[in-house]
Amino acid sequence: MRIAMVGAGYVGLVSGACFADFGHEVVCVDKDPAKIESLRAGHIPIFEPGLEETVAANVRAGRLSFSTDLAAAVPQADAVFIAVGTPSRRGDGFADLSHVYAAAREIAASLEGYTVVVTKSTVPVGTGDEVDRIIRETRPGAAFSVVSNPEFLREGAAIEDFKRPDRIVIGAEDQRGAELVAELYRPLYLNAAPVLTMGRRTAELTKYAANAFLALKVTFINEIADLCEQVGANVQEVARGIGLDKRIGGKFLHAGPGYGGSCFPKDTLALTKTAQNAGAPLRLVETVVAVNDQRKVAMARKVIAACGGSVRGRTIGVLGLTFKPNTDDMRDAPSLAIVAALQDAGARIRAFDPEGMENAASVLDGVDYTRDAYECAEGADALVLITEWDSFRALDLERLKAAMAGRIVVDLRNVYRPDEMSRRGFAYVSIGRPDTPAPIT
Ligand SMILES: NC(=O)c1ccc[n+]([C@@H]2O[C@H](COP(=O)([O-])OP(=O)(O)OC[C@H]3O[C@@H](n4cnc5c(N)ncnc54)[C@H](O)[C@@H]3O)[C@@H](O)[C@H]2O)c1
Repeated sequence: MRIAMVGAGYVGLVSGACFADFGHEVVCVDKDPAKIESLRAGHIPIFEPGLEETVAANVRAGRLSFSTDLAAAVPQADAVFIAVGTPSRRGDGFADLSHVYAAAREIAASLEGYTVVVTKSTVPVGTGDEVDRIIRETRPGAAFSVVSNPEFLREGAAIEDFKRPDRIVIGAEDQRGAELVAELYRPLYLNAAPVLTMGRRTAELTKYAANAFLALKVTFINEIADLCEQVGANVQEVARGIGLDKRIGGKFLHAGPGYGGSCFPKDTLALTKTAQNAGAPLRLVETVVAVNDQRKVAMARKVIAACGGSVRGRTIGVLGLTFKPNTDDMRDAPSLAIVAALQDAGARIRAFDPEGMENAASVLDGVDYTRDAYECAEGADALVLITEWDSFRALDLERLKAAMAGRIVVDLRNVYRPDEMSRRGFAYVSIGRPDTPAPIT
């Protein structure tokens, strides 16, 4: 089948490349000419494991191409996906749907023959109805269906998630549209990926409910970690103790500096706004949003406390800036709030991130970026581990210690063991664990 993917960002590019890999003919369209030029030249504008190879193989096979010309791509397509951004609207936190509606108008103008318009962007309940209305208004008489097909991939494991999803959600108001989208995914359900067909509004809400529930789980264990610190318990053992219960599950129970990234912060906020408007406020999710916001600043206070109450004039080395490992995405990364709060408190910041420094440099001022973790540690009074990249898991601790001016390590991801760190002479602070283990009596 022929697919036009409107928006060649994280989701559009990964989905487009994977659909091409299934054998479909895909054109990824973006309004950013620099992005399209770079993709045509074989450069992938984002860091995502496996993406470069998948894109290159499908371009070579003639199944994947890139264009800025939406009007040329749409008439050929059986399905047109909308995969544009839906950031938080400045001021009120609602999802900003201006890109989605602009894309809908452009698509409508070029429709030819029966076409399914699929929203893959995360959009509030009722957006599909509005896309339907816009197309009908722009092109009365056009033959089309509007289907919701939310995307659940994780950055850093996007290709794997797209090809081996836990489920595929298809929200449609008519059978023809639902069947066409299901057909696009047929290679996957031969692998037994469950396809859930439901109403369009239900599909739109399913995506937000999934993200809100995961954000809630992370926030729950973060608060349990704070309690562990007060009562001398170990959050990793609590997490394992509850996570092995199949009703709870062990995923998303790693205490840390608070969730960030391009989805959870904006989606939790947008869901609370939808719920307030609908007269059914989600108090739990509202609390999750507030607790998580406060947590990032609390992490900076934790670093300051570990440094004896002040960081004025001190040098802090930061390991990891992206919101999680295996991505270069800095959107809403906890490091942004932590670094800014430490700078406000008078600290000088050195930092290293394996993939995120270029993006970080455009949003974080006054930071000395370094070539690796050891250079980052040079002259540092304290080191703060914010993102758990694999390359930070087995650092040469003696080399690190020799480079540092001080001995303080604040590990916001619980990568290291408190007993080992104290044996090696570090003043080590982590999340929700006794810093020096109490002897078992
Ligand atoms: N990033 C993720 O991990 C993820 C996961 C699941 C769902 N989502 C959702 O998918 C959507 C896209 O997210 P993303 O991270 O890929 O965004 P992104 O910002 O990386 O990419 C969006 C792209 O759309 C392009 N664009 C905007 N308007 C356009 C138009 N009218 N025509 C053509 N191109 C246009 C932009 O230039 C940009 O390249 C969002 O709704 C997001 O919530 C994201």
